[in-house]
Amino acid sequence: MASFVLALFVLLISINVIILVERRRRRRMRRLGLPPGSFGLPLVGETLQLISAYKTENPEPFIDMRVSKYGSLFTTHVFGEPTVFSTDPQTNRFVLQNEGKLFESSYPSSISNLLGRKSLLLMKGSFHKRMHSLIMSFANSSIIRDHLLVDIDRLIRFNLHTWGGMVRLQDQTKKITFELTVKQLMSFDPGEWTESLRKEYLLLIEGFFSVPLPFFFTTYGRALKARTKVAEVLRLMVRERKERRAREGGEKQKDMLGALLEDGDGGFTEEEAVDFMLALLVAGYETTSTIMTLAVKFLTETPVALAALREEHDSIQERKQESEALSWSDYKSMPFTQCVINETLRVANIISGVFRRVMSDVNIKGYTIPKGWKVFASFRAVHLDQDLYKDARTFNPWRWQSNPPAASPGNIFTPFGGGPRLCPGYELARVEISVFLHYLVTGFSWETAEEDKLAFFPTTRTLKRYPINVRHRKVV
Ligand code: HEM
Repeated sequence: MASFVLALFVLLISINVIILVERRRRRRMRRLGLPPGSFGLPLVGETLQLISAYKTENPEPFIDMRVSKYGSLFTTHVFGEPTVFSTDPQTNRFVLQNEGKLFESSYPSSISNLLGRKSLLLMKGSFHKRMHSLIMSFANSSIIRDHLLVDIDRLIRFNLHTWGGMVRLQDQTKKITFELTVKQLMSFDPGEWTESLRKEYLLLIEGFFSVPLPFFFTTYGRALKARTKVAEVLRLMVRERKERRAREGGEKQKDMLGALLEDGDGGFTEEEAVDFMLALLVAGYETTSTIMTLAVKFLTETPVALAALREEHDSIQERKQESEALSWSDYKSMPFTQCVINETLRVANIISGVFRRVMSDVNIKGYTIPKGWKVFASFRAVHLDQDLYKDARTFNPWRWQSNPPAASPGNIFTPFGGGPRLCPGYELARVEISVFLHYLVTGFSWETAEEDKLAFFPTTRTLKRYPINVRHRKVV
């Protein structure tokens, strides 16, 4: 009995302390001119609420509840740091556009260790600018049209050719995007070499979504080891290519590594080249493959949309010779496909938003966000805002027919980010997803093999990797 009373006493004291601390924090927040909000529990803040919401199919209440209580900018404490969440499109735009001036991208050291010190994702200033424009120049429309499309077509077709019975779509789309990236980076066709690189690479990727404990038996520890191996393979590639160029000179290879080695602006060191290639492998992999998978999931759940998409692609197929590859003009005649891709990007929000570190005290909408704090510009909150999109939480590709993204007021549709860090692979991703959908809907019919659910933490995915039973419609 005495111990029960003591426990109750301790509990009441603790609750009172928490309430007092929270009140003081709120007073301090008002005094400092911070957006309203709550820091949650000591140490963990609101991290647990955020994680448990994003582990479900419907994470929206985490943001919805705070927006209705505090407004479109609110203060919270997540992943060990005080953070201002923005669900406001103008603020998000301001954050993206002022990258390098008022805000800078920021990743925890556990992620930086996996990416490498010289990764583009961590670079700042003129070096970042140089690397970013190098990718932009390699992945622009005319390069895709003249050089990359033919391999995208061939490799996707080659992969789908082996399908039959039950496939886990998420695994297959990851395999496809990995092979496409390796081809684009260093001109390697899939084979034993790429498969063994992929095995190490998968261990590395798991590290991004694990608890960062660097022991040999943890996921993170294995990821660090895999990172060393992948980097070693890439280093050998860089060395070999440099030696070959020095020996043979002449004909340059039209891939990303070739573009990197050719960069007239002083060249890149071996470490820079390796981290650069790794950044590209990472950036396009989860994102593009997940959009491919989720587009199929949403289409399966919306048969009218699937029928409209199939009609578009069947009519392209009818115009072509047997086994003739898709051309740029075929890609340009897929308007409904672009609506499906936009809508999948909007609803799924693979990159749900971006964290930025505030470089000096900054005023936004009458609030002051102190230097050193973090801001999270939530794309997801904007894309699913019922005031900005009619029936925002329903998959409706037709909405883009009358309102293409470029026409969206103030450009509130930002699945590829914006400003100096705008995704340089945005067009490449669209082309890859379009070609994939073309061969899927013309070549196969399917139904889901098992019920599967979406989750958004630690990354957007389906829990069972989306198993479907496929049947050939005609020879792909
Ligand atoms: C559907 C597919 C994709 C989506 C949704 C996506 C989305 C994004 C977003 C939102 C950012 C901005 C991150 C930030 O501001 O911190 C970004 C950056 C980046 N993306 Fe993509 N991406 C996709 C595909 C690709 C592909 C195929 C590539 C390959 C070329 C790629 C390469 C990159 C790189 C290198 C960056 C870093 C840019 C920088 O920091 O300057 N992405 N992506």
